[in-house]
Amino acid sequence: MNQDFKMVAKTLFGLEEVLENELKQLGARDTKIGVRNVSFFGDSGFMYKANLNLRTAIKILKPIKRFQVQNEDDLYYHVKKMNWSRYLDLDKTFAINATVKSPYFNHSQYIALKSKDAIADYFMAKKGRRPDVDIKNPDLRIDIHIYNNNCTVSLDSSGDSLHKRGYKVVSSEAPISEVLAAGMIKLSGWNGDTNLIDPMCGSGTILTEAAMIAGNIPPQLHRESFAFMKWDDYDAELYKLIFNSSLKKIKEFSVKIMGYDRSPAALEMSRLNMENADLDEFITLEHQNFFRSQKPVGPTTLLFNPPYGERLAVDIEAFYGKIGDSLKKNYVGCEAWFITGNTEALKYVGLRTSKRIKLYNGSLESRLVKYELYDGSKKKGKM
Ligand SMILES: C[S@@+](CC[C@H](N)C(=O)[O-])C[C@H]1O[C@@H](n2cnc3c(N)ncnc32)[C@H](O)[C@@H]1O
Repeated sequence: MNQDFKMVAKTLFGLEEVLENELKQLGARDTKIGVRNVSFFGDSGFMYKANLNLRTAIKILKPIKRFQVQNEDDLYYHVKKMNWSRYLDLDKTFAINATVKSPYFNHSQYIALKSKDAIADYFMAKKGRRPDVDIKNPDLRIDIHIYNNNCTVSLDSSGDSLHKRGYKVVSSEAPISEVLAAGMIKLSGWNGDTNLIDPMCGSGTILTEAAMIAGNIPPQLHRESFAFMKWDDYDAELYKLIFNSSLKKIKEFSVKIMGYDRSPAALEMSRLNMENADLDEFITLEHQNFFRSQKPVGPTTLLFNPPYGERLAVDIEAFYGKIGDSLKKNYVGCEAWFITGNTEALKYVGLRTSKRIKLYNGSLESRLVKYELYDGSKKKGKM
């Protein structure tokens, strides 16, 4: 019988509520928000559905054991005591990923090594042989998470991070993660009902994620495999059923999704990625300098990720000043959102933000800011 069990979906800081909403909409039970994660209950079919459809999850873990640890010997003892024959056998390979935030432990690599030894010794004691480790393409991915003295051992049902949708063939110099792009779109409230422009689109991540949201297209449509497909209890028929039913929910959309960039090379990257995602016919790309562009007809949301002087060199004061000037002169009546890792730069925009949301772009603390460009919203003070 297919019973419900607990799962934990990992995400980026600031996207926990968005992810919880996604989970609830898919039908998860008993969701609970944590830091960079949301736990929930569902059955194996739901685990397949969640991996296929969640836009703001990085991984979906299935916890199988919790215990307390204060040193490496405790960890070795508890991991070795688990019934590993339930999940692994001698012909299978495994890999361990460890994360730690604890005064008792320093090195996640060492935790992974100690846990690997414990699993190997479990099999040596029982069968006189041990399964091999395969970092790249293991049959079982095990996740060890230590927070203070609490250790959780989980099976990783996703495998490669879910930000790897499988459509990106080329990346610009400073691409944004697909999970962050989808999270920004969801935080902006855009769901395909107004035009959307990314006026500095680079390799087109925001545009591609937006088209998938507007069309209700599963983000992992192009992904070839998930880690759960190698589990002993994998039900390929059930997965096929879930995949096909997700395909049936894809819908037409008529709003315009547009990307500009002043770099022809960036536009070419966007074009290649969109073609690969089969979304090129739904997205318009234009070689444009945003500072000379004009708003299109109809309600429009701008959502972008301008350079902030980290990886792409720009004169921050002049550049963010021009962003503000362009928004207030050419985009009256629109809503604009952008993310920046340079909070100092925001004061040069010269418009009042109506929202500021803390997010991280990679390891860089950033802000997603919103400007409502009402008629007459001239310089109201520096923010
Ligand atoms: C940080 S990247 C955007 C990355 C993009 N979100 C992605 O995922 O690939 C910023 C982009 O802004 C473009 N850009 C800079 N100034 C511009 C301007 N005035 N008008 C249009 N594009 C501009 C750059 O060419 C670059 O591709």
